[in-house]
Amino acid sequence: MKHRWVSLRALLSWAIVCAVFVLHGSAAHAQGQDRAPEYFQSDIQYGAQIFANQCTACHGTSGDLIPGVNFRAGVFKRVVSDNDLRATITTGVPGTAMQPFAFGASELTGIVSYLRNMSSFDAKGLLVGNAGSGQSLFAGAGNCASCHAVNGKGPRFAPDLGDVGALRTAELLHRTLVDPAGSMLPVNRPVRAVTKDGKIINGRRLNEDTYTVQLVDEHERLVSLTKADLREFAVLRTTPMPSYRDKFSAQELADLEAYLLSLKGVK
Ligand code: HEC
Ligand code: HEC
Repeated sequence: MKHRWVSLRALLSWAIVCAVFVLHGSAAHAQGQDRAPEYFQSDIQYGAQIFANQCTACHGTSGDLIPGVNFRAGVFKRVVSDNDLRATITTGVPGTAMQPFAFGASELTGIVSYLRNMSSFDAKGLLVGNAGSGQSLFAGAGNCASCHAVNGKGPRFAPDLGDVGALRTAELLHRTLVDPAGSMLPVNRPVRAVTKDGKIINGRRLNEDTYTVQLVDEHERLVSLTKADLREFAVLRTTPMPSYRDKFSAQELADLEAYLLSLKGVK
């Protein structure tokens, strides 16, 4: 009997420990939502370059020149969350020297990632990409232009990269270059279709709904297929795009990324 009483008490205190743990966990979780769960090196580097060009005049290289604001130490007047940071940078602070900045999503992601990691960021290791050199690699050694168009100029075999700098973050672009299969977007997946009369069509999926699929075939023709007419239809996980992890140095990859980030559509 006594034994049973003890184990009940043990059970009760165990339950309390669990409850406290769960409550604590959810508080920490709520706090974590103020910031991205993780920041990436390519975004931080991109942000560091933008900061050096456009922010240091007022905020200083250490981000502590404005009284009451110290980016490196994480001291802010109003900003709490990553979204606050994006909003403040986009709208500025009315009535102060903090002007609005017209940044796109990839730039904001870069700046926020950098501001959140300024204290640990090693500027000596910063690889500053050169968009001009990147463009040469794109047309030359990288052979990118044999598959990709930029603003409608070039083959349709692979996605047009004309606005990729506005659509994708620095980190996503970096990952595509070193691990194209692993970072493939669902929309870009290659597809293989076999019609009921045996015709094989390989291409890149543009759009798909329940009954039809639109794709660009190997001969760069736009094709619309009705699924009911197909014997086989498969979305592949492989990509024809090669990995550039071993082909290019870190500096060359940074150059290519700088070029891609500069592609923001035709103005
Ligand atoms: C012309 C000077 C100037 C430039 C350039 C400038 N800032 Fe500011 N910034 C300020 C001032 C002044 C404040 C403080 C405003 C206030 O009193 O609330 C400020 C405030 C901020 C805040 C809000 C901090 C807080 O405590 O809430 C953020 C975030 C910020 N700046 C980011 C940037 C970024 C990122 C850049 C570059 C893209 C930049 N600023 C460029 C002058 C500038
Ligand atoms: C053999 C053809 C081929 C070559 C060469 C090639 N790519 Fe690709 N690339 C593709 C295909 C197909 C996709 C779409 C599927 C995917 O994401 O893997 C793609 C996807 C991409 C994407 C992602 C597009 C998006 O919408 O996010 C980027 C960025 C990219 N390539 C850049 C490059 C760069 C830069 C080079 C040269 C260094 C290059 N590619 C070389 C075929 C190629």
